[in-house]
Amino acid sequence: MSKRHAATIAARAGIAQDTAFAAVTPPLYLTSTYELKAFQQPGQYDYSRSNNPTRDLLAETLAELEGGVKAIVTSTGMSACLLALQLLTPDDTLVIPHDCYGGSYRLFTNLAQRKNAFKLLVVNFQQADWAEQVSAAQAKMIWLETPSNPLLQITDVRAVCQLAKQLQALVVVDNTFLSPILQQPLALGADIVVHSTTKYINGHSDIVGGVLICNSKQLGDELKWWANCLGITGAPFDCYMTLRGLRTLEPRLRLQQDNTSKVVAFLSQQPLVAKVYYPGLPDHPGHAIAKAQQRGFGAMCSFDLAADAALLPVFFSALRLFTLAQSLGGIESLICHPGSMTHASMDAQAQQTAGIGPTLIRLSVGIENADDLLADLQQAFNAVAQAGQQAGNHGKADSAVTQDHQQQQQFRLNPALSAFW
Ligand SMILES: Cc1ncc(COP(=O)(O)O)c(C=O)c1O
Repeated sequence: MSKRHAATIAARAGIAQDTAFAAVTPPLYLTSTYELKAFQQPGQYDYSRSNNPTRDLLAETLAELEGGVKAIVTSTGMSACLLALQLLTPDDTLVIPHDCYGGSYRLFTNLAQRKNAFKLLVVNFQQADWAEQVSAAQAKMIWLETPSNPLLQITDVRAVCQLAKQLQALVVVDNTFLSPILQQPLALGADIVVHSTTKYINGHSDIVGGVLICNSKQLGDELKWWANCLGITGAPFDCYMTLRGLRTLEPRLRLQQDNTSKVVAFLSQQPLVAKVYYPGLPDHPGHAIAKAQQRGFGAMCSFDLAADAALLPVFFSALRLFTLAQSLGGIESLICHPGSMTHASMDAQAQQTAGIGPTLIRLSVGIENADDLLADLQQAFNAVAQAGQQAGNHGKADSAVTQDHQQQQQFRLNPALSAFW
């Protein structure tokens, strides 16, 4: 059979393969241990921290979806990140982007500063001299997150991988924001992909999990050894739930992305929005690279509210559909304030350097009806405008039609480019 499409791989994972009872849906193996065939004759499985059939099925499916050789399913996205770092020693240099997920930033900086686990260089991959900086540091591992969280900045994965080959450095890409449906970093030259499966891969905000996928058996075997050694492999029940969510990944993302292009178009014309961050916008600095390396622009977007930060509570409490919560990638629409939530573990200086301002708001757009989502946002903007007037600072709200906003008005989403291509 020819190579299967992603939607088919995800939907058919383990279907109609049960040899015991011909169950169509693969069973959940809730066992910690397995009976030996006889004394000193172990079977395929011995202990579920090391291996479990439900976890293995999820790992094989995710490896196939990412085009990798081996996947290791972990307990959380953070444990997948921690696992990749086992490849480093104290003399090695890890390069990270200045605007990565706050929890990853906390892990990298604390392991480097408090444990001497490796040397750390924080680089802004949007600046022209990124390659010089990475080369000068003789990087051993380069960490990428593209699109980045929460500003959706795009890094050219092919260009970084080319340099990494010269330096004999490993490239790890956190692909959480897009999933293998919209981006396959291994095909762009990366060595390792990590995901918080908590997000799009599971898609229903009801478990936490992670995965690390390698482009070689050697790397995969070493990391699998570490995952068992550290005891960070994923729980079988969580793997079962993730497999169940994964089956609908492609249609979910298609709908979420479609809704996002409508939300972005709406925000781009909203007077109380100073700036919209979405790689699907033609004037987004990473638009061309995103088009070249992604299969869609994704379902995350951010914006700066053009009002005093004191009015943020009014905006958030007026919303009825967008739920104020951490996390992203579920079927329900979520909204968050990165400065005080997802990126609170970055200090004020790091947030400022990363461009995370006090009125930055991030949306994870779900599968609800798009008109209902837009109406929800509109009534929250109305509440802010009203509160601004009452507080006597409506001048600030009026000045929301700033230069930034006028620039936003000059372009529109190109619907032809907003969905899959
Ligand atoms: C891009 C990214 N990577 C990694 C993580 C960590 O994943 P988890 O929360 O599953 O540990 C997150 C969590 O928000 C994330 O957004």
